[in-house]
Amino acid sequence: MTDTLTPVLTANWADEEAWKIQAYTAQGGYAALDTAFASAPEDIVAMVKEAGLRGRGGAGFPTGMKWGFLPPDDPESPKPRYLVVNADESEPGTCKDIPLMMASPHTLIEGVILSSYAIRAEHAFIYVRGEVLHVVRRLRAAVREAYAAGHLGEDIHGSGYRLELVVHAGAGAYICGEETALLDSLEGRRGQPRLRPPFPAVAGLYASPTVINNAESIASVPSIVRHGASWFSSMGTEKSAGFGIFSLSGHVRRPGQYEAPLGITLRQLIDLAGGIREGHQLKFWTPGGSSTPLFTGEQLDVPLDFEGVAAAGSMLGTRALQIFDDSVCVVRAVLRWTEFYKHESCGKCTPCREGTWWLVQVLERLEKGQGSPDDLDLLLDQCDNILGRSFCALGDGATSPITSSIRYFREEYLAHLEHGGCPFDPAASTAWSQP
Ligand SMILES: Cc1cc2nc3c(=O)[nH]c(=O)nc-3n(C[C@H](O)[C@H](O)[C@H](O)COP(=O)(O)O)c2cc1C
Ligand code: SF4
Repeated sequence: MTDTLTPVLTANWADEEAWKIQAYTAQGGYAALDTAFASAPEDIVAMVKEAGLRGRGGAGFPTGMKWGFLPPDDPESPKPRYLVVNADESEPGTCKDIPLMMASPHTLIEGVILSSYAIRAEHAFIYVRGEVLHVVRRLRAAVREAYAAGHLGEDIHGSGYRLELVVHAGAGAYICGEETALLDSLEGRRGQPRLRPPFPAVAGLYASPTVINNAESIASVPSIVRHGASWFSSMGTEKSAGFGIFSLSGHVRRPGQYEAPLGITLRQLIDLAGGIREGHQLKFWTPGGSSTPLFTGEQLDVPLDFEGVAAAGSMLGTRALQIFDDSVCVVRAVLRWTEFYKHESCGKCTPCREGTWWLVQVLERLEKGQGSPDDLDLLLDQCDNILGRSFCALGDGATSPITSSIRYFREEYLAHLEHGGCPFDPAASTAWSQP
């Protein structure tokens, strides 16, 4: 049994009424504000850079460096700067920001204040997925508490700094998690990705300099200000510093959120989660949500940091570890994800709008055992025409489960054709046994 958990963001989740401001301040919450206000904003940016915090929303872009991209104020035509927190969390399997905001909304709010101060923004937004109304309500209640306690509004803690924070509920579209589609949605338009450049740092929300960060990225900032950059970088690996929430779902005995240093392995995490459920074996898993290529038991010891997962052929993504045991048909799972991408495709570009529709057609007939072996090549060809040719990463992500499952489970696709249906279906012949 490994003891490598590093509870920081999750440390207070089991406290009584952890979401209330009294419970949060009793644990030292909001104390980092005075530390920050005693320093220049640039010093906080430098501290976050030195800590090595990388974006927790999927791509792993260095957070401090992103903040440093904001252009200097133009004295001729000064523009406001905005901080936008991406809390849209809609990727299948990804389920860390919602529990974080539900259990400890003040961790995120303190992070918003510190980060806004660092980039000299006076308006910040938290864009939350609209379906999670309970989280929206909890966040709004916490924001009201923070205003009443003087952590938000005018002259915060007597520092002269002011910040307004708005919690905005989206209308439930996966594409609105893509940062530029999110900005369009926040401005009141239909959420579709924008052409870049200009990047949001230069012309983001209302064409003003904007930083967009994932909720977990921003929620990590208070601990860095409180404990220092070297404390943060002492955890994790050289290029992937710190800790992160690993969300284990599916066929483990104790699914849930495991906060651990980056670089932990799935073998260690499954151990922490009590193992694969009784009588079954691990079959396949996603390292970072459904947009990241699948892994199998071969990758149990891959370090779960940005470099380790990339070297093994996938992406760390959002550390959404969906665990599937040998009772699951990989073709059916991949079809289900692909239906999601088809449904969520925003329609702006042809490869994704048309391509995801075709992927579903071919996968459906394969899953029913009605296709032909050539359909596997057809699928790979379709993926090749989507990957790298789509306007945003949604199209690319749609191809990941398909190409990786064909790489590892070609035999299982073919078994559907031999059986004239899914060999996992109890009504089908049981002659086929998994390799
Ligand atoms: C289709 C799609 C959905 C996304 N959904 C989210 C999301 O829900 N939350 C998130 O933080 N990032 C999401 N992203 C990534 C964002 O575009 C962006 O990279 C991220 O918010 C940057 O924050 P970070 O640097 O703190 O990781 C999504 C990207 C795509 C292409
Ligand atoms: S890749 Fe898909 S989601 Fe992204 S812009 Fe094109 S159609 Fe829209």
